[in-house]
Amino acid sequence: MKYSGLLRWVFTFYLVFAFYISLTFTIQFAYFEVPQQSAGAGGSSAAYWVSEAFANSSVKINTTVYEQSSRIGGRTKIIKYERDGISIPIELGASIFVDVNYYIVENAKKFGLEFMKYGEEMENSKTGIWNGDEFVFEQSSNSYWDTARILWKYGWAPIKVQNLVKEIIGKFLEEYKYDKPFTSIDSEAERLQLDKEIKFTAQYYFSELEKINQLYLKHFVEPMTRVNYAQNLAELHAMGAFISLAPQGAKSIKGGNYQLFEKFIEHSGANLKLDTKIVKVTKLKSPGGINNMKYIVKTKDGSSEEYDAIILAAPIQFTGIEFENMDFKIKEIPYITLHVTLITGYVNPAYFGRAKIDDVPEQIVTTNSEKCEFLSFAGKLQLPNGETISKLFSHQELSDEMLDRLYTSRSWTFRKVWKSYPKLLPNQTFPPLEPDENFFYINSFEPYISTMETECVSSRNIVKLLAERWDGIYLQPIKAKL
Ligand SMILES: *[C@@H]1O[C@H](CO)[C@@H](O)[C@H](O)[C@H]1NC(C)=O
Ligand SMILES: *[C@@H]1O[C@H](CO)[C@@H](O)[C@H](O)[C@H]1NC(C)=O
Ligand SMILES: *[C@@H]1O[C@H](CO)[C@@H](O)[C@H](O)[C@H]1NC(C)=O
Repeated sequence: MKYSGLLRWVFTFYLVFAFYISLTFTIQFAYFEVPQQSAGAGGSSAAYWVSEAFANSSVKINTTVYEQSSRIGGRTKIIKYERDGISIPIELGASIFVDVNYYIVENAKKFGLEFMKYGEEMENSKTGIWNGDEFVFEQSSNSYWDTARILWKYGWAPIKVQNLVKEIIGKFLEEYKYDKPFTSIDSEAERLQLDKEIKFTAQYYFSELEKINQLYLKHFVEPMTRVNYAQNLAELHAMGAFISLAPQGAKSIKGGNYQLFEKFIEHSGANLKLDTKIVKVTKLKSPGGINNMKYIVKTKDGSSEEYDAIILAAPIQFTGIEFENMDFKIKEIPYITLHVTLITGYVNPAYFGRAKIDDVPEQIVTTNSEKCEFLSFAGKLQLPNGETISKLFSHQELSDEMLDRLYTSRSWTFRKVWKSYPKLLPNQTFPPLEPDENFFYINSFEPYISTMETECVSSRNIVKLLAERWDGIYLQPIKAKL
């Protein structure tokens, strides 16, 4: 695919399935102890940051990671499509990260993992924007022509939006330069000067505050928030829209993103307890412990361990953990239920009002219209027999009846439902990041920004707080630039 520089991003409809990871883990120190549970981006990176921050400290930390399932990865997971001796890994959950996701990119490099460019397996694929009746825009093979058509139709809107995206990402990158940890999501949003972006819906922000052309919002911006966060412009905050629009250099880890999280755990030296469900956490008075208190973590098999601090790395309402002697109230954050459907088969061009399959774009995003039966349709790759493997996102389960209209034949259909990310509601009350003393909550950051990278940002911030409190060594800020 060729792009003409300036408007490059207009065509990059990467599916920033910006989903994160869940992990609840436990750090337990020689004389300070902490647990965590459930290991995705947040939990696994937290274990790693702890090992870094306390590597050369006189305080020795004994970290335990509790993972209720039998694997590391949280909301990243691959499924292997296997046929005729070929085996193709497909990301089912959080699929891509981008160049400016420094904690992901730099650590993946450090651990020797390889990257795969988004869409690498389906070269020369074209994107179309579907409104349920017709394509309101289709990418051609001539990017100059596409650019000209867009400018003609939408004026300066694409350039204005692109500049805003740059400005917002630039502001966010300031976070990587701070020594000082933040203590609440609101204070962090203010420090980054990115608080206005969570006060308004993306619709109000772009159309009323920034005066962006309505048609452009409908045709280009909203399809991106729909594919990335399954939310329309009038539903999510502007920050969510900006994250959806920033997919420069989209990539994933070859063989599956979960491998990075496995590496984080491996290199952290933490005790890993797979298949271990925490049922109860009790706060106890413990003279001599840190702040004269301890946490008792009880698991389903009936055993219990004592810890000095806990890092919870899963959306709290999905953990089912009972908290005893802890009087915090965390407002439940509503999550989106996302249906992911993988299909191998032959797409029916008639579904899109076309005569030939070659006339149907391989990548389809949708406008906010009742007539769209799915949020997005991503062609992943073509098999030697001409069938394609595609990934669809939708709010509801895609019925066999609907799939039989969309496909002339299907040889494989796989369905998976996720609680993929929070509803990114404007003006919401963020959960506390330290709901009780030395009890931290990584996913408090998610309703602000929900990506694999920002789970790592949140976990690193929590470890900075621990280091400050317990004589660890400050994690060095890293160089981050656009
Ligand atoms: C700990 O100290 C050693 C030796 O001084 C150094 O090589 C290493 O980078 C330090 N580790 C961290 C995480 O700072
Ligand atoms: C670390 O914690 C684990 C699990 O609680 C325990 O089995 C182990 O003995 C501890 N190690 C040290 C050095 O305290
Ligand atoms: C959020 O609160 C601000 C005032 O702080 C208000 O101006 C804005 O309209 C509110 N946004 C929504 C979507 O209600």
